[in-house]
Amino acid sequence: MADDISYWLSSTPPTSYPTLPAADLRDVDVAVVGGGIAGLCTAWSLARAGRRVVVLEAERIAQASTGNTTAKVTALHSAVYHKLGADRAGLYARSQQAALARLHEVAAAIDASCDWEARTAYTYGVGAEAVASLREEAAAAAEAGLPAEFVTDTGLPYAVAAAVRVTGQAQFHPRRFLLALAEDLVRLGGRIVEQARVTKIGDGTLTFADGEQLTAYDIVVTTGFPAFDRPELFTRLLPKRELVVAAPIPADADPGGMFLGIDDDRSVRTAPLDRGRRLLIVTGETYQPGDGDIEQRYTALTVWAGERFPIEGVAYRWSAQDYTSSDKVPFVGRFPGHDHVWVATGFGGWGMTNSMMSADLLTARITDGALPDWAELYDPHRLSPAKEAPALAKAAGTVAKNLVGERLAKPDTTLDELAPGRGAIVKVGGRRCAAYRDETGALHTVSATCTHLGCVVGFNDADRTWECPCHGSRFDVDGAVLQGPALEPLAPVDGR
Ligand SMILES: Cc1cc2nc3c(=O)[nH]c(=O)nc-3n(C[C@H](O)[C@H](O)[C@H](O)COP(=O)(O)OP(=O)(O)OC[C@H]3O[C@@H](n4cnc5c(N)ncnc54)[C@H](O)[C@@H]3O)c2cc1C
Ligand code: FES
Repeated sequence: MADDISYWLSSTPPTSYPTLPAADLRDVDVAVVGGGIAGLCTAWSLARAGRRVVVLEAERIAQASTGNTTAKVTALHSAVYHKLGADRAGLYARSQQAALARLHEVAAAIDASCDWEARTAYTYGVGAEAVASLREEAAAAAEAGLPAEFVTDTGLPYAVAAAVRVTGQAQFHPRRFLLALAEDLVRLGGRIVEQARVTKIGDGTLTFADGEQLTAYDIVVTTGFPAFDRPELFTRLLPKRELVVAAPIPADADPGGMFLGIDDDRSVRTAPLDRGRRLLIVTGETYQPGDGDIEQRYTALTVWAGERFPIEGVAYRWSAQDYTSSDKVPFVGRFPGHDHVWVATGFGGWGMTNSMMSADLLTARITDGALPDWAELYDPHRLSPAKEAPALAKAAGTVAKNLVGERLAKPDTTLDELAPGRGAIVKVGGRRCAAYRDETGALHTVSATCTHLGCVVGFNDADRTWECPCHGSRFDVDGAVLQGPALEPLAPVDGR
């Protein structure tokens, strides 16, 4: 039986940084909201530049997406280069390669024992239809400056039609790196506060869930989907969730690279495990939050892995989400509508290099340092209507369907028919509600309306959570917020 936890979380100790109100929060130059890889790298970089920094994390640092990632550290991001256009592709490649080198340099400088391994990265296609775009991608990536080639041999134990190969990339253990980075941040005078959910920001002021306030000259928002958002950003970000299964394999069955399929929705890497064995990590079954049947998806992913690799049973399984911007380029820079609020988000499944890129860029912006020539590429104020139109239409469609269509549709079932262990949207007293019956038969009923902007939530039968399809908020079965952008719990409903 697999453990429902990521390998990264399972193989590192939990953190216990001070919580509010005990933490002393005076004399802050920069408050970083969100303690994932983006927040921690940015805080560390600012502390190194002499700023008095505090990281404010709603739960525990290096968990959320970062504790559940697959941690390939690469500039080869699926097949993005041929879609960017030559100029932007060159800037993108340069910024990502620089971030990869910087991550390696920082890991060495802080002496993080984080299983850093040099690896070749591949984007492959299994179907003949993928060959032309992979050929185009290899040419565009090479022209952009990456050591990229079009190949047909990958070392994978299953047939692929073609691939883009980029040498000199890497993989690591993200939590081992970040726990060491967090310690170094504290050594540099930075502070970390956990279980401190920020509910409101303005220029220079942050408000916490208990009403307490903190002042800081600059505020950096690295909360994944930006809580406290303005329509400039949230309409331009799409959430997607992915599942991961990890299983020991004999070391001689390691395919030796990092792989991403563009037409089979699969990603593959391995990690060191013990003598003679590697941990195979397979990711896929991408879905929109709230779009049920998660157990079935885990089964599909496990069967797929077992048919291709000599796995010894799945040891860990987990899931997480990330956000893709409407033009596939992250938003890193000034938060729209504010002078001293900054944001880094929209990493589109490539947050390792993008977080270090964000840290360097935001540090330069905040300290008035020299800006790299690729800074404008990531400016959140940019608008590229032609490139963004399809993604914007998709996001608007999702919101419209889940605000109106789903709400008018029939409920999934009735309370009486709800079996133990199941969750569904039911009608209670004429009101649509999210109902879960636990294994003891007790009912947990809460409003089905997401407290962010009112979309109808859907049940995740593996994690036993409610997920919002519109912007990815997640709630436990009693309505508590597990992941934003929602800041308020789902309202309780009397299901009797
Ligand atoms: C399955 C999967 C596999 C992936 N694989 C790769 C990969 O191989 N390579 C790669 O480069 N990228 C990968 N990614 C993407 C990468 O993991 C993410 O882009 C990255 O972890 C995002 O980091 P983050 O710091 O922005 O967000 P998070 O790690 O989610 O951190 C955000 C933090 O903000 C906190 N927060 C939220 N709201 C508040 C609030 N109101 N107040 C205070 N704190 C708040 C949260 O609790 C959280 O800790 C993958 C993503 C997924 C889902
Ligand atoms: S997360 Fe935005 S409406 Fe639910």
